[in-house]
Amino acid sequence: MPVIATPVIEEILADLRGYLDDEPPALSLPPSAYTSQELWEMERERIFHCSWMLVAHVDQLAETGAYVAVSIAGESVVVTRAGDGTLHAMSPICRHRLMPLIEPGAGRTDAFTCRYHLWKYALDGRLRGAPYMGGNKDFEPKDCRLPQFAVQEWNGFVWVNLDAGAEPIGAHLDLAAHQFTNYRLAEMVQVDSWSLQWQANWKLVMENGHENYHVIGLHRETLEPFMPGGGDVHVEQYSPWVLHARIPFVAPVQPEALALDEIQRANGMLLLSFPSSAFIGLGDQIVWLSFIPLAIDRVQVVGGVLTTPELATGSDAVARTQDAVTAMINDEDRIGLEAVQRGVGSRFAERGHLSPKEQPGVLAFYRNLARALLREGPWPGAL
Ligand code: FES
Ligand SMILES: [Fe+2]
Repeated sequence: MPVIATPVIEEILADLRGYLDDEPPALSLPPSAYTSQELWEMERERIFHCSWMLVAHVDQLAETGAYVAVSIAGESVVVTRAGDGTLHAMSPICRHRLMPLIEPGAGRTDAFTCRYHLWKYALDGRLRGAPYMGGNKDFEPKDCRLPQFAVQEWNGFVWVNLDAGAEPIGAHLDLAAHQFTNYRLAEMVQVDSWSLQWQANWKLVMENGHENYHVIGLHRETLEPFMPGGGDVHVEQYSPWVLHARIPFVAPVQPEALALDEIQRANGMLLLSFPSSAFIGLGDQIVWLSFIPLAIDRVQVVGGVLTTPELATGSDAVARTQDAVTAMINDEDRIGLEAVQRGVGSRFAERGHLSPKEQPGVLAFYRNLARALLREGPWPGAL
Protein backbone atom coordinates (compact mmCIF):
# COMPACT_ATOMS: atom_id res chain seq x y z
CA MET A 1 0.00 0.00 0.00
CA PRO A 2 1.48 3.41 -0.91
CA VAL A 3 2.29 5.60 2.09
CA ILE A 4 0.49 8.94 2.01
CA ALA A 5 2.46 11.82 3.51
CA THR A 6 0.53 13.77 6.12
CA PRO A 7 1.65 16.65 8.34
CA VAL A 8 1.82 14.37 11.41
CA ILE A 9 4.03 11.85 9.69
CA GLU A 10 6.20 14.62 8.24
CA GLU A 11 6.76 15.96 11.77
CA ILE A 12 7.66 12.52 13.08
CA LEU A 13 10.10 11.92 10.22
CA ALA A 14 11.68 15.35 10.77
CA ASP A 15 12.24 14.44 14.44
CA LEU A 16 13.63 11.04 13.43
CA ARG A 17 16.10 12.70 11.08
CA GLY A 18 17.66 14.35 14.13
CA TYR A 19 18.84 10.96 15.39
CA LEU A 20 21.09 10.61 12.34
CA ASP A 21 23.11 13.67 13.42
CA ASP A 22 26.57 13.24 14.92
CA GLU A 23 25.13 14.76 18.07
CA PRO A 24 21.56 13.48 18.23
CA PRO A 25 19.09 15.00 20.67
CA ALA A 26 19.00 13.14 24.02
CA LEU A 27 15.22 12.95 23.75
CA SER A 28 12.67 10.17 23.39
CA LEU A 29 10.55 9.86 20.25
CA PRO A 30 7.62 12.23 19.76
CA PRO A 31 4.55 10.63 21.43
CA SER A 32 2.73 10.51 18.08
CA ALA A 33 5.33 7.98 16.88
CA TYR A 34 3.57 5.43 19.10
CA THR A 35 0.02 6.29 18.07
CA SER A 36 0.14 7.44 14.44
CA GLN A 37 -1.65 5.01 12.15
CA GLU A 38 0.23 6.48 9.18
CA LEU A 39 3.59 5.78 10.79
CA TRP A 40 2.48 2.24 11.61
CA GLU A 41 1.61 1.69 7.93
CA MET A 42 5.03 3.03 6.96
CA GLU A 43 6.72 0.74 9.51
CA ARG A 44 4.86 -2.27 8.10
CA GLU A 45 6.02 -1.47 4.59
CA ARG A 46 9.56 -0.24 5.20
CA ILE A 47 10.51 -2.40 8.19
CA PHE A 48 8.41 -5.48 8.89
CA HIS A 49 7.74 -6.55 5.32
CA CYS A 50 11.46 -6.59 4.53
CA SER A 51 13.37 -7.31 7.77
CA TRP A 52 14.63 -10.47 9.42
CA MET A 53 12.63 -11.57 12.45
CA LEU A 54 13.75 -14.21 14.91
CA VAL A 55 10.78 -16.58 15.27
CA ALA A 56 12.01 -19.78 16.93
CA HIS A 57 14.88 -21.83 18.27
CA VAL A 58 15.72 -24.79 16.10
CA ASP A 59 14.79 -27.21 18.92
CA GLN A 60 11.16 -26.21 18.26
CA LEU A 61 11.57 -27.27 14.62
CA ALA A 62 13.67 -30.39 15.04
CA GLU A 63 11.29 -33.09 13.79
CA THR A 64 9.75 -33.49 10.36
CA GLY A 65 6.37 -31.77 10.44
CA ALA A 66 7.21 -29.43 13.32
CA TYR A 67 5.90 -25.94 12.67
CA VAL A 68 5.85 -22.48 14.25
CA ALA A 69 3.25 -19.95 13.08
CA VAL A 70 3.38 -16.22 13.80
CA SER A 71 1.84 -13.03 12.49
CA ILE A 72 4.36 -10.35 11.51
CA ALA A 73 2.68 -6.94 11.46
CA GLY A 74 -0.54 -8.51 10.21
CA GLU A 75 1.05 -10.98 7.78
CA SER A 76 0.73 -14.67 8.69
CA VAL A 77 3.83 -16.83 8.45
CA VAL A 78 4.39 -20.51 9.11
CA VAL A 79 7.83 -22.11 9.37
CA THR A 80 7.98 -25.87 8.83
CA ARG A 81 10.53 -28.68 8.84
CA ALA A 82 9.90 -30.66 5.66
CA GLY A 83 10.59 -34.36 5.12
CA ASP A 84 13.89 -33.66 3.36
CA GLY A 85 15.13 -31.78 6.43
CA THR A 86 14.84 -28.28 4.97
CA LEU A 87 13.11 -25.37 6.66
CA HIS A 88 10.38 -23.53 4.78
CA ALA A 89 8.78 -20.21 5.66
CA MET A 90 5.57 -19.49 3.82
CA SER A 91 2.21 -17.78 3.80
CA PRO A 92 -0.37 -20.12 5.40
CA ILE A 93 -3.26 -18.58 3.50
CA CYS A 94 -5.17 -21.05 1.34
CA ARG A 95 -4.75 -20.40 -2.40
CA HIS A 96 -8.39 -21.32 -3.02
CA ARG A 97 -10.45 -18.65 -1.27
CA LEU A 98 -7.98 -17.33 1.29
CA MET A 99 -8.89 -19.16 4.48
CA PRO A 100 -5.96 -19.14 6.94
CA LEU A 101 -4.71 -22.73 7.17
CA ILE A 102 -3.41 -22.31 10.69
CA GLU A 103 -3.54 -19.90 13.60
CA PRO A 104 -0.41 -18.54 15.35
CA GLY A 105 1.13 -21.19 17.59
CA ALA A 106 3.34 -24.25 17.30
CA GLY A 107 2.92 -27.98 16.85
CA ARG A 108 3.46 -30.93 14.52
CA THR A 109 1.54 -32.01 11.46
CA ASP A 110 1.91 -34.15 8.35
CA ALA A 111 0.22 -31.61 6.08
CA PHE A 112 -1.90 -28.45 6.19
CA THR A 113 -5.50 -29.13 5.28
CA CYS A 114 -7.80 -26.16 4.79
CA ARG A 115 -10.98 -26.63 6.81
CA TYR A 116 -13.05 -24.64 4.31
CA HIS A 117 -13.00 -27.00 1.27
CA LEU A 118 -10.25 -29.42 2.27
CA TRP A 119 -7.45 -28.38 -0.07
CA LYS A 120 -4.32 -30.00 1.27
CA TYR A 121 -0.73 -28.67 1.25
CA ALA A 122 2.55 -30.48 1.92
CA LEU A 123 5.10 -29.22 4.45
CA ASP A 124 6.93 -27.33 1.66
CA GLY A 125 3.72 -25.57 0.62
CA ARG A 126 2.99 -27.59 -2.53
CA LEU A 127 -0.63 -28.47 -3.17
CA ARG A 128 -1.27 -32.17 -2.57
CA GLY A 129 -5.02 -32.37 -3.03
CA ALA A 130 -8.02 -30.26 -4.08
CA PRO A 131 -11.42 -32.04 -4.11
CA TYR A 132 -13.68 -31.70 -7.21
CA MET A 133 -11.30 -29.34 -9.01
CA GLY A 134 -10.73 -31.59 -12.04
CA GLY A 135 -13.40 -29.83 -14.12
CA ASN A 136 -11.69 -26.42 -13.96
CA LYS A 137 -9.45 -26.39 -17.05
CA ASP A 138 -7.61 -23.23 -15.99
CA PHE A 139 -6.55 -24.71 -12.64
CA GLU A 140 -3.12 -26.35 -12.65
CA PRO A 141 -2.56 -28.10 -9.30
CA LYS A 142 1.18 -28.54 -9.81
CA ASP A 143 1.63 -24.75 -10.09
CA CYS A 144 -0.28 -24.12 -6.89
CA ARG A 145 1.98 -23.52 -3.91
CA LEU A 146 1.90 -21.37 -0.79
CA PRO A 147 4.04 -18.21 -1.31
CA GLN A 148 7.54 -18.77 0.06
CA PHE A 149 9.46 -16.37 2.29
CA ALA A 150 13.15 -16.21 3.19
CA VAL A 151 14.22 -18.36 6.13
CA GLN A 152 17.64 -18.83 7.65
CA GLU A 153 19.03 -20.75 10.59
CA TRP A 154 21.98 -19.18 12.37
CA ASN A 155 23.55 -20.94 15.35
CA GLY A 156 20.24 -22.52 16.30
CA PHE A 157 18.16 -19.38 15.84
CA VAL A 158 15.54 -19.41 13.08
CA TRP A 159 14.96 -16.14 11.23
CA VAL A 160 12.28 -15.23 8.71
CA ASN A 161 11.99 -12.39 6.21
CA LEU A 162 8.77 -11.70 4.29
CA ASP A 163 10.95 -10.45 1.43
CA ALA A 164 11.87 -13.72 -0.31
CA GLY A 165 14.81 -12.01 -2.03
CA ALA A 166 16.26 -10.45 1.12
CA GLU A 167 20.01 -10.46 1.64
CA PRO A 168 20.76 -13.23 4.18
CA ILE A 169 21.14 -12.06 7.76
CA GLY A 170 23.82 -14.61 8.62
CA ALA A 171 26.71 -12.51 7.32
CA HIS A 172 25.56 -9.62 9.50
CA LEU A 173 25.19 -11.76 12.61
CA ASP A 174 28.63 -13.24 11.89
CA LEU A 175 30.15 -9.79 12.44
CA ALA A 176 29.28 -10.08 16.14
CA ALA A 177 29.77 -13.85 16.41
CA HIS A 178 33.21 -13.60 18.06
CA GLN A 179 31.54 -12.02 21.09
CA PHE A 180 29.53 -15.23 21.56
CA THR A 181 31.99 -17.99 20.57
CA ASN A 182 32.44 -19.13 24.18
CA TYR A 183 28.69 -19.63 24.59
CA ARG A 184 28.77 -22.49 22.04
CA LEU A 185 25.45 -21.27 20.67
CA ALA A 186 25.05 -24.05 18.09
CA GLU A 187 25.24 -26.74 20.80
CA MET A 188 22.84 -25.11 23.22
CA VAL A 189 19.48 -26.68 23.94
CA GLN A 190 16.25 -24.93 24.78
CA VAL A 191 14.98 -25.60 28.32
CA ASP A 192 12.09 -23.14 28.42
CA SER A 193 10.06 -21.11 25.95
CA TRP A 194 7.10 -18.74 25.93
CA SER A 195 4.69 -16.87 23.71
CA LEU A 196 2.77 -13.96 25.21
CA GLN A 197 0.95 -10.85 24.08
CA TRP A 198 1.65 -7.37 25.41
CA GLN A 199 -0.57 -4.37 24.79
CA ALA A 200 2.15 -1.92 23.76
CA ASN A 201 3.66 -0.39 20.66
CA TRP A 202 6.71 -2.35 19.52
CA LYS A 203 9.01 0.72 19.78
CA LEU A 204 8.23 1.16 23.48
CA VAL A 205 9.20 -2.47 23.98
CA MET A 206 12.43 -2.09 22.01
CA GLU A 207 13.52 1.11 23.75
CA ASN A 208 13.06 -0.76 26.99
CA GLY A 209 15.18 -3.59 25.62
CA HIS A 210 18.01 -1.21 24.71
CA GLU A 211 18.46 0.23 28.20
CA ASN A 212 19.18 -1.04 31.66
CA TYR A 213 18.20 2.15 33.50
CA HIS A 214 14.65 0.88 34.14
CA VAL A 215 16.01 -2.02 36.23
CA ILE A 216 16.18 0.40 39.20
CA GLY A 217 12.40 0.77 38.90
CA LEU A 218 10.55 -2.06 37.19
CA HIS A 219 12.97 -4.83 38.26
CA ARG A 220 14.29 -3.58 41.59
CA GLU A 221 13.33 -6.80 43.39
CA THR A 222 14.25 -9.28 40.67
CA LEU A 223 17.08 -8.12 38.37
CA GLU A 224 18.66 -5.24 40.29
CA PRO A 225 20.71 -7.49 42.66
CA PHE A 226 22.63 -9.04 39.78
CA MET A 227 22.17 -6.55 36.91
CA PRO A 228 22.18 -3.11 38.55
CA GLY A 229 20.31 -0.43 36.65
CA GLY A 230 23.04 2.10 37.38
CA GLY A 231 25.55 0.07 35.35
CA ASP A 232 26.97 1.64 32.21
CA VAL A 233 25.91 -0.07 29.00
CA HIS A 234 28.60 -0.44 26.34
CA VAL A 235 27.28 -0.50 22.76
CA GLU A 236 28.86 -1.55 19.44
CA GLN A 237 27.01 -1.33 16.13
CA TYR A 238 28.29 -4.03 13.76
CA SER A 239 25.86 -3.44 10.92
CA PRO A 240 22.52 -1.65 10.54
CA TRP A 241 20.94 -4.96 11.56
CA VAL A 242 23.23 -5.97 14.41
CA LEU A 243 23.98 -4.13 17.64
CA HIS A 244 25.99 -5.62 20.48
CA ALA A 245 25.55 -4.28 24.01
CA ARG A 246 27.24 -5.25 27.26
CA ILE A 247 25.34 -4.78 30.48
CA PRO A 248 27.15 -5.20 33.81
CA PHE A 249 25.92 -8.49 35.29
CA VAL A 250 26.94 -10.73 38.17
CA ALA A 251 25.70 -14.28 37.69
CA PRO A 252 23.84 -15.56 40.78
CA VAL A 253 25.80 -18.79 40.33
CA GLN A 254 29.25 -18.57 38.72
CA PRO A 255 29.18 -20.11 35.24
CA GLU A 256 30.96 -23.48 35.16
CA ALA A 257 29.78 -25.21 32.02
CA LEU A 258 31.15 -22.57 29.66
CA ALA A 259 34.69 -21.19 29.43
CA LEU A 260 33.66 -17.54 29.49
CA ASP A 261 36.21 -14.75 29.45
CA GLU A 262 36.37 -11.97 32.02
CA ILE A 263 34.14 -9.65 30.03
CA GLN A 264 31.53 -12.36 29.51
CA ARG A 265 31.58 -13.24 33.22
CA ALA A 266 31.00 -9.63 34.19
CA ASN A 267 28.35 -8.72 31.61
CA GLY A 268 25.09 -9.68 30.06
CA MET A 269 26.23 -10.06 26.45
CA LEU A 270 23.39 -8.80 24.31
CA LEU A 271 22.88 -9.00 20.57
CA LEU A 272 20.04 -6.83 19.33
CA SER A 273 18.94 -7.40 15.78
CA PHE A 274 16.94 -4.57 14.24
CA PRO A 275 14.02 -4.26 14.28
CA SER A 276 12.89 -6.33 17.24
CA SER A 277 14.83 -9.50 18.04
CA ALA A 278 17.50 -10.16 20.65
CA PHE A 279 19.47 -12.71 22.61
CA ILE A 280 21.57 -12.25 25.70
CA GLY A 281 24.28 -14.38 27.28
CA LEU A 282 23.80 -14.50 31.04
CA GLY A 283 26.48 -16.74 32.51
CA ASP A 284 25.79 -20.32 31.45
CA GLN A 285 22.59 -19.39 29.65
CA ILE A 286 21.28 -17.57 26.64
CA VAL A 287 17.87 -15.94 26.77
CA TRP A 288 16.34 -15.05 23.41
CA LEU A 289 13.38 -12.78 22.79
CA SER A 290 11.57 -11.54 19.75
CA PHE A 291 8.93 -8.83 19.86
CA ILE A 292 6.77 -9.40 16.83
CA PRO A 293 4.25 -6.61 16.27
CA LEU A 294 0.66 -7.71 15.76
CA ALA A 295 -0.83 -4.22 15.55
CA ILE A 296 0.11 -0.64 16.36
CA ASP A 297 -0.46 -1.30 20.08
CA ARG A 298 0.19 -5.04 20.44
CA VAL A 299 3.23 -7.32 20.28
CA GLN A 300 3.66 -11.05 20.40
CA VAL A 301 6.56 -11.81 22.73
CA VAL A 302 8.22 -15.11 21.85
CA GLY A 303 11.40 -16.42 23.37
CA GLY A 304 13.22 -19.07 25.27
CA VAL A 305 16.06 -20.02 27.59
CA LEU A 306 19.01 -22.02 26.22
CA THR A 307 21.80 -23.70 28.06
CA THR A 308 24.46 -26.35 27.56
CA PRO A 309 23.37 -29.98 27.14
CA GLU A 310 25.16 -30.79 30.46
CA LEU A 311 23.19 -28.21 32.42
CA ALA A 312 19.90 -28.83 30.64
CA THR A 313 19.16 -31.87 32.78
CA GLY A 314 18.12 -29.84 35.81
CA SER A 315 20.42 -27.40 37.53
CA ASP A 316 19.81 -24.79 40.20
CA ALA A 317 21.60 -22.21 38.12
CA VAL A 318 19.20 -22.68 35.24
CA ALA A 319 16.17 -22.63 37.51
CA ARG A 320 17.24 -19.46 39.30
CA THR A 321 17.90 -17.40 36.21
CA GLN A 322 14.79 -18.80 34.57
CA ASP A 323 12.65 -17.71 37.51
CA ALA A 324 14.02 -14.19 37.35
CA VAL A 325 13.66 -13.91 33.60
CA THR A 326 10.18 -15.37 33.63
CA ALA A 327 9.08 -13.01 36.37
CA MET A 328 10.59 -10.11 34.46
CA ILE A 329 8.99 -10.78 31.12
CA ASN A 330 5.68 -12.09 32.39
CA ASP A 331 4.96 -9.35 34.80
CA GLU A 332 7.33 -6.49 35.28
CA ASP A 333 8.13 -5.35 31.76
CA ARG A 334 4.66 -6.16 30.46
CA ILE A 335 2.84 -4.27 33.21
CA GLY A 336 5.26 -1.35 32.93
CA LEU A 337 5.07 -1.09 29.17
CA GLU A 338 1.30 -1.48 29.01
CA ALA A 339 1.09 1.46 31.43
CA VAL A 340 3.46 3.54 29.26
CA GLN A 341 1.25 2.72 26.25
CA ARG A 342 -1.59 4.45 28.09
CA GLY A 343 0.73 7.39 28.83
CA VAL A 344 1.74 8.03 25.22
CA GLY A 345 -1.91 8.67 24.35
CA SER A 346 -2.17 11.64 26.72
CA ARG A 347 -2.76 14.94 24.96
CA PHE A 348 -0.15 16.44 27.29
CA ALA A 349 2.52 13.89 26.35
CA GLU A 350 5.83 15.33 25.11
CA ARG A 351 9.27 14.02 24.25
CA GLY A 352 11.25 13.14 27.39
CA HIS A 353 14.91 13.77 28.26
CA LEU A 354 17.09 10.64 28.26
CA SER A 355 19.55 9.80 31.05
CA PRO A 356 23.19 9.17 30.07
CA LYS A 357 22.54 5.66 31.44
CA GLU A 358 19.99 4.95 28.70
CA GLN A 359 21.32 7.06 25.85
CA PRO A 360 23.82 4.62 24.25
CA GLY A 361 21.29 1.89 23.56
CA VAL A 362 18.14 3.94 23.03
CA LEU A 363 19.79 6.41 20.65
CA ALA A 364 21.34 3.54 18.68
CA PHE A 365 17.86 2.05 18.28
CA TYR A 366 16.42 5.41 17.21
CA ARG A 367 19.23 5.82 14.67
CA ASN A 368 18.46 2.43 13.12
CA LEU A 369 14.76 3.25 13.13
CA ALA A 370 15.45 6.57 11.39
CA ARG A 371 17.63 4.86 8.77
CA ALA A 372 14.98 2.25 8.07
CA LEU A 373 12.11 4.72 7.74
CA LEU A 374 13.98 7.51 5.96
CA ARG A 375 16.07 5.11 3.86
CA GLU A 376 19.12 7.26 4.49
CA GLY A 377 22.60 6.13 5.39
CA PRO A 378 23.63 2.48 4.97
CA TRP A 379 20.26 0.96 4.30
CA PRO A 380 19.03 -1.73 3.79
CA GLY A 381 22.36 -2.69 5.23
CA ALA A 382 24.71 -4.04 2.61
CA LEU A 383 28.00 -5.14 4.15
S1 FES B 1 -10.48 -21.67 1.07
FE1 FES B 1 -9.19 -23.32 1.45
S2 FES B 1 -10.08 -24.96 0.45
FE2 FES B 1 -11.39 -23.33 0.00
FE1 LIG C 1 12.98 -4.87 31.65
